[in-house]
Amino acid sequence: MPAKHDTLLILDFGGQYCHLISRRVREQGVYSEIVSPDISPQEIAALNKTFNIKGLILSGGPSSVYAPDAPKLHPQILETNLPILGLCYGHQLLAQLVSGKVEPATCKEYGPVQVTIDKSVGVLKGLNLNEQVWMSHSDIVLVVPSEFETLAHTDNCPVAAFRHKTRPLYGLQWHPEVIHTKNGTQMLQNFIFQVCKAQANWQIDDLILKMITELQTETSGAKAIIGLSGGIDSSVATALAAKALGEKLTAVYVDHGFMREGETEAIRVAFEKFAIQFIVVDAKQRFMNKLCGVTEPEAKRKIMGEEFIRVFEEIAVQSGAEYLIQGTIYPDRIESGFRKNSDIIKSHHNVAGLPEKIKFKKILEPLRDLYKDEVRKIATMLELPKEIVNRQPFPGPGLAVRIIGLLTEEKVQIAKKSDRIVREEIERYNLAENLWQYFSVVTNTQATGVKGDARAYGYVVAVRATESREAMTASFAKLPYEVLERISTRITNEISQVTRVVYDVTHKPPATIEWE
Ligand code: XMP
Repeated sequence: MPAKHDTLLILDFGGQYCHLISRRVREQGVYSEIVSPDISPQEIAALNKTFNIKGLILSGGPSSVYAPDAPKLHPQILETNLPILGLCYGHQLLAQLVSGKVEPATCKEYGPVQVTIDKSVGVLKGLNLNEQVWMSHSDIVLVVPSEFETLAHTDNCPVAAFRHKTRPLYGLQWHPEVIHTKNGTQMLQNFIFQVCKAQANWQIDDLILKMITELQTETSGAKAIIGLSGGIDSSVATALAAKALGEKLTAVYVDHGFMREGETEAIRVAFEKFAIQFIVVDAKQRFMNKLCGVTEPEAKRKIMGEEFIRVFEEIAVQSGAEYLIQGTIYPDRIESGFRKNSDIIKSHHNVAGLPEKIKFKKILEPLRDLYKDEVRKIATMLELPKEIVNRQPFPGPGLAVRIIGLLTEEKVQIAKKSDRIVREEIERYNLAENLWQYFSVVTNTQATGVKGDARAYGYVVAVRATESREAMTASFAKLPYEVLERISTRITNEISQVTRVVYDVTHKPPATIEWE
């Protein structure tokens, strides 16, 4: 392992895909860090003591470069002499910094666009004359100064890509980091390896070591507890924390009563084998009491987030733990709106659902910058049991966010039974491997039916199955009708209170994966 990894800094201008850029760089074996958009040359020099900084990528962002509060680059950023690649907003900002002309586009471009490559050099080396790229912008670069040259254009965008004639400065109006830009990976590789001349000297193993060391440094010999839900994230966080803290760690599984059928037992079996302290807390009644009469999804999430912490605090008093470790991953934080200028989509129980006052010195989140598939990779490397590595993601608040409206004992039972049926049928048809998640939702709608020649009036249960890579976007799965039919027949036959089953055919966006 080299003393310092070759590193690219990603300047975060608030775009949806900022973190994806960082991830794409790491996929190439080169380390990347996300930093503040106005980072100064002095701050970069300071970071250079830890990393071997080889280049900067300016992310996209929602602003117009002319908006009064638009985030700006540090005016002396070009003095670092580091290679720079501006993407979308970053492209416009770089053009503006070097006195190019940026204007609102008369015809905005969103989605897939054909771009004509005028000169396939530098970042665009080896590309075709026409390339499919993915754009999402409302401003365009009209003109670049004479020391720059245009490398690509579209019908609406005269300078879709540019470079400085002698220095390693590039701008692309599109997003090479999203999979819809067909040769996006090649563009990023060109920048990373040809322009920045970085070496692929980082690998995910280094990250494991970094996370373990960080946990040891942060806790410096003190005890900690970890919230273990049995999902992949908290399981991996537990395995890492166990390596870092050994017997100073207590893993706590809170049974809040909204777990899937058989879940508590499955977790007990999987984790009793681990050489850690493992506690199962039966908190069914206290969670139900707190949630009694609550219908609003965000209120449910916040109540559950707080109640989890209160349980953990009580355990901490008994075990003497000063720190709480959580398996929070990056998409949880994005949706909970942790970045300046980003919106709250939903308060994940372990992020925005946390109470303001907590009795822990600090909450530690070793997986905070990772996506689910990276977490799965780490799970495999840590040799976690297959049943944990391959588990479908399950939200911390459990079935409570899959029961719309009031939470009643009757609805919880319907949720548990219908969820089991969906799981059994999907697994029977060997469809699980290609699905991100598959589950049922007990809606708050009732509908008329006919059962055994008599009128029935009961619940409508929705079935949801999605395909996704990292949960930021998802598609509904096109399940065979035969499977849907079996699920529907079994649910209405086996659960007397259900009269109707519907299938959710909405992608994310505009929907989210969970209903609440
Ligand atoms: P959505 O519904 O936002 O979900 O598309 C994205 C992924 O996150 C999971 N999820 C959660 N996980 N605590 C969690 O630990 C939560 O509060 C939470 N809410 C959603 C969801 O199951 C999906 O995989």
